[in-house]
Amino acid sequence: MEPIPDTSRPPQVVVNGIPLIKYFSEALGELEGFRVQPGDLLISTYPKSGTTWLCEILDMIYQSGDLEKCQRAPVYTRVPFLEFRAPGVPSGLETLKDTPSPRLLKTHLPLALLPKAFLDQKVKVIYVARNAKDVVVSYYHFYQMAKVHPDPGTWETFLETFKAGQVCYGSWYRHVQEWWELRKQQPVLYLFYEDLKEDPKREIRKIMEFVERPLSEEILDRIVRETSFKNMKENPMANFSSLPSYIMDHEVSPFMRKGIAGDWKNHFTVAQNELFDADYAEKMAGSELHFRTEL
Ligand code: A3P
Repeated sequence: MEPIPDTSRPPQVVVNGIPLIKYFSEALGELEGFRVQPGDLLISTYPKSGTTWLCEILDMIYQSGDLEKCQRAPVYTRVPFLEFRAPGVPSGLETLKDTPSPRLLKTHLPLALLPKAFLDQKVKVIYVARNAKDVVVSYYHFYQMAKVHPDPGTWETFLETFKAGQVCYGSWYRHVQEWWELRKQQPVLYLFYEDLKEDPKREIRKIMEFVERPLSEEILDRIVRETSFKNMKENPMANFSSLPSYIMDHEVSPFMRKGIAGDWKNHFTVAQNELFDADYAEKMAGSELHFRTEL
């Protein structure tokens, strides 16, 4: 039997002031000189904002709604995760070697750590943002099941770490704002998780237009159906169940956990909510961004 590498809970590493998963930080050197290709599309998000959902939607659009083709490999192979690295599984860059053009690429990197080529060559970006309260709840559960993260500690301490921008990938507040600002310089379709929940068909139409791949109403309906939370939860090519349990342990918390807007209400105390709102108002003062925390 293959020995199981001990990947558990390495301490995060800070790069340019941004905390990262240790293994991912080790990919940055090689990523620096990353060469983009014509037709590349970058899917960017702060973690736990609906990245996988968007990846599945985009692969379905690129495969013209062909279900069989979308079953060809797990979503993390179909849409390589640029900075991904973990012992015992192919890295994002290794996966990319076998990825045909036009490529869909995923990242959570803040702009300061993004390979320069994406900005220099004004690569098309789709960004999806989700309200901070649901992100921190989802992230807390994710830290528990994805053991490449440090131990999250208690919910109370994790919430404070998140507010202080000390979780992996740093400040949510900064991430959502800097990618919003990027719209002024290059083509960025900025979407909201809550809008996708509210009316997936409307949002998927926007995505199709942005990537200039018009599809029939019938295919659009199929994409909406196949990328519903329920269907993706049951789809082994979308639900991350194919990763070894020493990387993601779905027994602790499934990757496809709840998939709703407003779950934060089941976790925040009244006092935590008040403090969070006050801190949020300060950090987001002057921002044009407005999030819905329930539907
Ligand atoms: P919850 O933990 O709140 O359930 P990411 O892919 O960026 O890591 O985001 C994961 C979050 O998106 C999880 O949130 C997951 O359940 C949710 N999600 C994944 N696919 C979804 C879908 N098709 N519809 C709604 N939410 C989805």
